[in-house]
Amino acid sequence: MLKQKKIVSRGAGEFDPVDVAAYSALGGFDSLKKAVGMEPLAIIEEVKKAVLLGRGGAAYPAGKKWEHLYHIEASPKYIVCNADEGEPGTFKDKLILDKLPLRLIEGMAIAGYVFGAREGYIYVRGEYRKIQRGLKKAIENARQAGYLGENILGKAGFSFDIQVVSGAGAYVCGENSALLNSTEGKVGRPRIKPPHLAEVGLFLKPTLVNNVESLASIPAIIEMGGEEYLKLGHPQSGGTKLICLSGHAARKGSYEIPLSGLTLRDVIFDPELGGGLKEGKKLKFYHLGGQSGRIGGPEQLDTVYSYADLKSAGLSVGSGAVVVMGEDVAILDYLKGVAEFFIHESCGKCVPCRSGNKQILRILERLATPGLPTEDDLAALRRLIETLNNAAFCGLGRTVTAALESAWKLFPEEFEANVRPENAKALAQAS
Ligand SMILES: Cc1cc2nc3c(=O)[nH]c(=O)nc-3n(C[C@H](O)[C@H](O)[C@H](O)COP(=O)(O)O)c2cc1C
Repeated sequence: MLKQKKIVSRGAGEFDPVDVAAYSALGGFDSLKKAVGMEPLAIIEEVKKAVLLGRGGAAYPAGKKWEHLYHIEASPKYIVCNADEGEPGTFKDKLILDKLPLRLIEGMAIAGYVFGAREGYIYVRGEYRKIQRGLKKAIENARQAGYLGENILGKAGFSFDIQVVSGAGAYVCGENSALLNSTEGKVGRPRIKPPHLAEVGLFLKPTLVNNVESLASIPAIIEMGGEEYLKLGHPQSGGTKLICLSGHAARKGSYEIPLSGLTLRDVIFDPELGGGLKEGKKLKFYHLGGQSGRIGGPEQLDTVYSYADLKSAGLSVGSGAVVVMGEDVAILDYLKGVAEFFIHESCGKCVPCRSGNKQILRILERLATPGLPTEDDLAALRRLIETLNNAAFCGLGRTVTAALESAWKLFPEEFEANVRPENAKALAQAS
């Protein structure tokens, strides 16, 4: 049985990505044509029926977000696509941006029609230079073919265009309010919320911010209808998901799978997906959803890969990253890498994140050193986790601890291996 289900990635690599005629030959822009014959609220109804959860990581229902924005009576409204893709181990938006930019453009144009927006922005991570060039070409070609610009498809009053904005490589700029600040040319730091971005977003106007994969899924939802899209997945999270396998997986890469029926075991070991671990290594753990996600072990392998099932197992889909790690990886070493990432990427605005990550790294280093750590280190680590979870200013600081907490539950013996009562005694005698 085929494990992959190509919906949002259908046609990837099969034609010149910027060729509008080739995309149209595969049914491209048919959904936009269908959408302009529908009432905006009817389109939102399909997105709601599809139960499309935001594919950027936070899993907020797109239909709910769209409905909320629709009912805000202010203009102009902006459509912003989050193509920052900063989460380590995540390279699934790249597949769409690189191979199917016209599908993203079509999804954004449908959103433009729904909200009466004239301007859309795609905020692309700075490292994706070549992709940015391709995206600009695809936009230009779509404009020339009449799918962007004034009175699109001859529909009076439907005018929408897209600009590409380049980030400069900061992870925090993937957070939607930091992304808007950066798009406006300000320092890319998160904003205080509320006000919600739907009300006070880009240039302080009502704004839709959706991930690349979320927006590129809209044409399929319009084409097949929300109910059919829902059936591809789980009743609480419809459709398919692009996942990215990396680390010690034998078959690293992006794959699109239905959000139902496949377990983590399938994802990691099926020959069509992860293909097991390279060099015949034994699985030790896997890190889901990027560095901000949770870590799972072999005993959770039979969990179905859906938002709801993973949540029940204490895990999450997040960005779709699946970093597979073999038996030879020490968990403390792995977590030190995670902490170093967050130290590098903390924007420094709030103390818990700016200083907390450094303290976490210091404790992890102590815990990994024989004869050094005491019970106090474990207590301090617990306090830091609590502080970051409760007092960090934005989602970056609040998710720092997900890997730590979940790994601690799975491998308590590795956290505690060097902690012995005699360490405390030795320390007391030395001081
Ligand atoms: C620190 C941080 C980094 C994030 N990075 C990204 C990112 O690179 N791409 C993305 O789509 N969402 C990212 N998000 C999530 C966005 O804030 C937001 O939830 C998303 O753009 C909403 O789109 P969606 O509902 O379609 O997923 C990040 C969030 C945080 C807190």
